[in-house]
Amino acid sequence: MNRSTEEITGRISRAAEYIASRTGSEKPLVGIVLGSGLGKLAEQIQDAEIIPYRDIPGFPLSTATGHKGNFICGRIGGKRAVAMQGRLHFYEGYPMELVTMGIRVMKLLGVEFLFVSNAAGGVNADYKVGDLVIIKDHINMMPNPLIGPNLDSFGPRFPDMTCAYDLELQQLAAQIGLGMGINLHKGVYFGSTGPTYETPAEVRFFREVGADLLGMSTIPEVIVARHCGIRVFGMSVVTNEANSRNIPRNFNDGDDVVKQAGIAAERMSELFRRMIEAL
Ligand code: HPA
Repeated sequence: MNRSTEEITGRISRAAEYIASRTGSEKPLVGIVLGSGLGKLAEQIQDAEIIPYRDIPGFPLSTATGHKGNFICGRIGGKRAVAMQGRLHFYEGYPMELVTMGIRVMKLLGVEFLFVSNAAGGVNADYKVGDLVIIKDHINMMPNPLIGPNLDSFGPRFPDMTCAYDLELQQLAAQIGLGMGINLHKGVYFGSTGPTYETPAEVRFFREVGADLLGMSTIPEVIVARHCGIRVFGMSVVTNEANSRNIPRNFNDGDDVVKQAGIAAERMSELFRRMIEAL
């Protein structure tokens, strides 16, 4: 192991040890990452122990709009869970190893399933603002978080990315969504670094290559989770129509994204709760 690998793994271990020291020995089965405006799910967590990121040794702080900075440990749908209320984005200026640090901390805590959520722009013409979309695959246009020395204790140098989004969990979501009477889409999430929204020409290009959703997060977490063998479920809330025409109207606005996500958060939270209950 070279020095930087030791530094990274040591930092992850210390953070996990700190969280475990506050939550006791029972392992969380499920990890959850709550995207912009989606923090409401945290209210569903019972017997919650709230651990601010600033209390965790070596853990970065979230600065993005609509993101708090807490690990919330407790129980949801009868299962032990740990949620990140507020994620770290590459556009905030953190290196990828810090953007994804929470996922590796979850792995050390014992997490086997990761539920990730985000606010995204819709490029698929069938999507309306407020719709929920099961992420079935992604196109990564951000730097890969596994670049650098491989963390062998977490996973292999060249991890497989077929079925990155667990097929059984997608099926479970579709079935539960049907029971709840919500119309769930399935789509491909296209991730770029941000923080600029896309130009109309970019939106048309991304649609052409297979994107249904555009966003600035999630993919680094999913790659790191798959690297260490965590099964992943991803869901986007369509908070706006992506800008595909060059007309003087901005379809994207940070505050509106957070507001729309807040409206959809209730349905998504209930869906997550029922899915976790069924695990
Ligand atoms: N583009 C990129 N990221 C986003 C968008 C968008 O339109 N909406 C919410 N996050």
